[in-house]
Amino acid sequence: MYMMAHRGISGHRPENTMASFREAVKQKVDCIELDVRLTKDGVPVVCHDATIRRTSNGKGFIHQLTLKELKKYDFGSWFSEEYKGERIPTFEEVLELVKDESINLNIETKNGPVIPEDLEAKTLDLVYRYHMQERVMYSSFDHFSLKRLYKLDSSAKVGFVFHMNLINLFDYIENTGVPTFSIHPNHFYITDEMIQEAHKRGIKVNAYTVNNRGWADKYRHMGVDGLITNYPAEMK
Ligand code: G3P
Ligand code: MG
Repeated sequence: MYMMAHRGISGHRPENTMASFREAVKQKVDCIELDVRLTKDGVPVVCHDATIRRTSNGKGFIHQLTLKELKKYDFGSWFSEEYKGERIPTFEEVLELVKDESINLNIETKNGPVIPEDLEAKTLDLVYRYHMQERVMYSSFDHFSLKRLYKLDSSAKVGFVFHMNLINLFDYIENTGVPTFSIHPNHFYITDEMIQEAHKRGIKVNAYTVNNRGWADKYRHMGVDGLITNYPAEMK
């Protein structure tokens, strides 16, 4: 099964930091899942939440802080003193880390409370500048973001993330007009029928966030294609 390290090896390292991504490279996982947002000065950075309160010693919204301001904060100590001094990574720093490694990226575009219309263009631009277009896929809970990505790059591999149990999921996806590479359901909602229907249409199913070995085995037997997990080594 294809293993995606959720926010890097976030079970053992502070999430979405270079320490977390370096460990993913070291463990030779198939893919790193990371969350990309725009700073006040329009730089794509890697952070899950809209604010930095939970994962740093600072506070405030990412979209209201410049990169220079964000770089002052410590994104490691909240997890463990061992990682004190970790800084928020720019998306470009992550591309620099992985460009010569055999590892793929699942780039999750994040927005809210504001929805910057240029997040997708800036992200794509960096991916192409680093010649990573064959090694990345894009995913989002914001399906308008996926539409923007597809409009900008019709060859982009796109994955629909959803945390609700949708009725007529495949009709919904088809109606978006975005060719779908994969679906990323909250793993609780995965059924045999969902997997069969996805595979019939040539769509992969990647389950998030699976951190329990029993569940991992269950999904493996069901035919789920990939796991998004904080513990890729333990889920193998
Ligand atoms: O790729 C989806 C996975 O990341 C789950 O969502 O909230 O952890 O970004 P989240
Ligand atoms: Mg994510």
